[in-house]
Amino acid sequence: MPVLTRRRFLSGAVATAVSAGALPRLARAAAPAELAIGTRSLDVAGRAATVFSITRPDGGHGLRATAGDPFRVRLTNALPEPSLVHWHGLTPPWRQDGVPGVTQDPLPPGAAFDYDFPLDRPGTHWMHSHVGLQEQRLLAAPLIVADPAEAGLDEQEVVLMLHDFTFRDPAEILAALRGGQGHGMAAMGMAGMGHGGHDMGAMPGMSHGMSGSMDGMAMDLNDVEYDAYLANDRTLADPEVVRVERGGRVRLRIINGAAATNFHIDLGAAEATLVAVDGRPVAPVTGRRFPIAIAQRLDLRLTVPAGKALPVLALREGERQRTGLVLAAPGASVGRIAGQGKAKAPALDLALEAKLAAAQPLAARPADRTIPVKLGGDMARYVWTLNGKVHGQDAPLMVRQGERVAIAMTNPSMMAHPMHLHGHHFQVVAIDGKPLSGALRDTVLVPPGKAVTIAFDADNPGRWAFHCHHLYHMEGGMMTTVEYEGLA
Ligand code: C2O
Ligand code: CU
Repeated sequence: MPVLTRRRFLSGAVATAVSAGALPRLARAAAPAELAIGTRSLDVAGRAATVFSITRPDGGHGLRATAGDPFRVRLTNALPEPSLVHWHGLTPPWRQDGVPGVTQDPLPPGAAFDYDFPLDRPGTHWMHSHVGLQEQRLLAAPLIVADPAEAGLDEQEVVLMLHDFTFRDPAEILAALRGGQGHGMAAMGMAGMGHGGHDMGAMPGMSHGMSGSMDGMAMDLNDVEYDAYLANDRTLADPEVVRVERGGRVRLRIINGAAATNFHIDLGAAEATLVAVDGRPVAPVTGRRFPIAIAQRLDLRLTVPAGKALPVLALREGERQRTGLVLAAPGASVGRIAGQGKAKAPALDLALEAKLAAAQPLAARPADRTIPVKLGGDMARYVWTLNGKVHGQDAPLMVRQGERVAIAMTNPSMMAHPMHLHGHHFQVVAIDGKPLSGALRDTVLVPPGKAVTIAFDADNPGRWAFHCHHLYHMEGGMMTTVEYEGLA
């Protein structure tokens, strides 16, 4: 099996395991790094698929840069349709943030744009299209900003990027959701039912749709049924097997690049230490399971025992489906892993969030301004709102440079919303009214019935997207902007 030879080295002991190749360090040279939006071919459970990609000239997917270096990138749109890339987790000047309608127009076919801004801190980030539903077609890639201070660590770097994958046209999925086929039925779709030949198990769409409507539950977990869940573009039928070095010390950089799926990372009996969320360090938390909402990242440190293979699984919230990769020590044999677990994974909650503490919290300071934001939705019409408004009818959330701004979110809707603010890292400062000095991050999950308050320093003037990162909620209107007063 070719996967067994997928062993790559960057320099010294640091290796990465993104399926499409190692991520070379961004050159210090004056010439920008080149990234092109194009397509790549996948094999999903025996069936060919063409999806979008963000590739380097060497054919690799994604980018690895180093904190302290400038982010100097020439992005070319090699697609026959307009496109653009947002650097999720970076804090660029707002005109380089890659959000159509807010910061920049999409690039027409063949056009290029030069990005150039300082990368002042390390972190596990990602990049993706913010244009229409392109993200669902996997127009997303890892964006790792390495810490030069960690270059000498005896630690192997493994990047794990998660996706939810469908053979259907995402526009059809959205239309079906809008047509009132929500609650799992929408997405069951004809593709999922019509291609019984591929090895996807027994029509998960069907069983989900049925049980979803019969349970009559108060909470709605998954609106969209997928054909597969991918870890570095592969399913558990043929997972990536990363050979770890002697000593077995691994830093896992996990990115939830799914459009509409929350996961739990499951290490079985093994333990890992969570050291960063969304690229920002937290006081270490040890555990075996870690929730990762849409768009979030987890940095886990763990040691693979000598002679052992350690599956790193991602369990789909509320369901039995899962994906993942395998970390294998020298000489370990790797067994087959079923694509479905025995029991349904629970819904994500805020138990871990409430325990997290930023390693570099915001300076203690009261908020100068608190903005209430109610997360709402009309499930039947599949309209999703912030403070009752869909994007386009919304008023921007106004802030003034230099302020400490708090956003107090409440969620009376039936679904969880992974809320993302561009251009800043915020701190989670209260959950259900209980104050905490929580994680500094860029995306936080607000489950149904919950209240989460975030705070940030208004130190990056511009007009910034603030939205639910569930792609169909965002397309359904769940987006607004945070805008600085006096912006030219
Ligand atoms: Cu990951 Cu508005 O973006
Ligand atoms: Cu949402």
